[in-house]
Amino acid sequence: MNASRVQRLLKELETGGFSHAIFAPGASLYYLSGMRMHQSERLTLFGLNAKGEGVLLLPRLEAEGVVAPSHYKMIATYGDEEGPSHALSQFVAALGLKKSLKIAVEPLNMRWFEIQSLTAAGVTSFIPAEELVMRLRLTKDQGELDALRRAASIVDVALQQALPHFRVGMTETELAAELEYQMRKLGSEGTPFGTIVGSGPRGALPHGMPSDRKVQSGDLVVFDYGAMVDGYAADTTRTLAFGELSERAKEVYEVVKEAQATAIQSIRPGVTAEYVDKAARNVIEKAGYGDFFTHRTGHGLGLDVHEFPSIVSGNDLKLVPGMVFTVEPGIYLPDQFGVRIEDDVVVTDTGVEVITTFTKELMTI
Ligand code: CO
Ligand code: CO
Repeated sequence: MNASRVQRLLKELETGGFSHAIFAPGASLYYLSGMRMHQSERLTLFGLNAKGEGVLLLPRLEAEGVVAPSHYKMIATYGDEEGPSHALSQFVAALGLKKSLKIAVEPLNMRWFEIQSLTAAGVTSFIPAEELVMRLRLTKDQGELDALRRAASIVDVALQQALPHFRVGMTETELAAELEYQMRKLGSEGTPFGTIVGSGPRGALPHGMPSDRKVQSGDLVVFDYGAMVDGYAADTTRTLAFGELSERAKEVYEVVKEAQATAIQSIRPGVTAEYVDKAARNVIEKAGYGDFFTHRTGHGLGLDVHEFPSIVSGNDLKLVPGMVFTVEPGIYLPDQFGVRIEDDVVVTDTGVEVITTFTKELMTI
């Protein structure tokens, strides 16, 4: 258990008037406890009361790897044959949940399964509180920044090592496989999201999954891919030319490159998230492609690939040192091609550190 993070969480609970918080396995639980568990059909919960007493409910087969921190009030376990109901009633009793009135849960992480199990055990009055731990996770400490930098270095080196294998005529799936293979060899724990490779007209689909389309000469190909270190994600995009491009494609590439550079230059403590979005959007609008930049400029990055802060119009959150997010403007011309360039950045005391460093000059395969 990370004591200082739990202390900060307790303050948040007090501020929000919560009596308890209950977490399912996921990024926030890992952040608070160091326990990396996956959601499954076996009920797993971590509950905390306002005094900071924690109770863990987990299947017995997971319990062995868990080192019980001394300040855990208890750990309730169950076997596959008996099921979780007895352990769940212990969990409920130990936390005094029945009497409580405001139980914070994360709506994006709690499934119907967890809520229904708790409800059946007599626990109600859940309050959705997505921001609770997200607010703590908003600025990263040195250990987190180190993990993010290592993940960023893997995505950069992986592309460098994959490039000599890239050819016109390969399928998008083959290109994705080559990149993923290189990242794995470099020590990535896996891909934090499905690798995107969009060639030619398929590049105009911002979230297009790789297909068996063969890359043709003259295609722009969007590679959006990520690596993971200690649970922390890198998320980068480069758009490469395969063969000689049309003048239009070259022009659009340069507009996106300028928009992305301008947005990065705008980042410093005290400016708002929407200011950074506007910086990128202005360049693209001025070039006449505003209607084709169809998403926000970036998103926070950490244990989740999408977390706070959202770099989006209307978000007046002020940037502070330690925030980490992506800067990824794009232009998508339907049925023609797409261009996106994405870097991961850290807000520093004086400005910004770009932790993905692969060149943004147009590269031709
Ligand atoms: Co991305
Ligand atoms: Co992204």
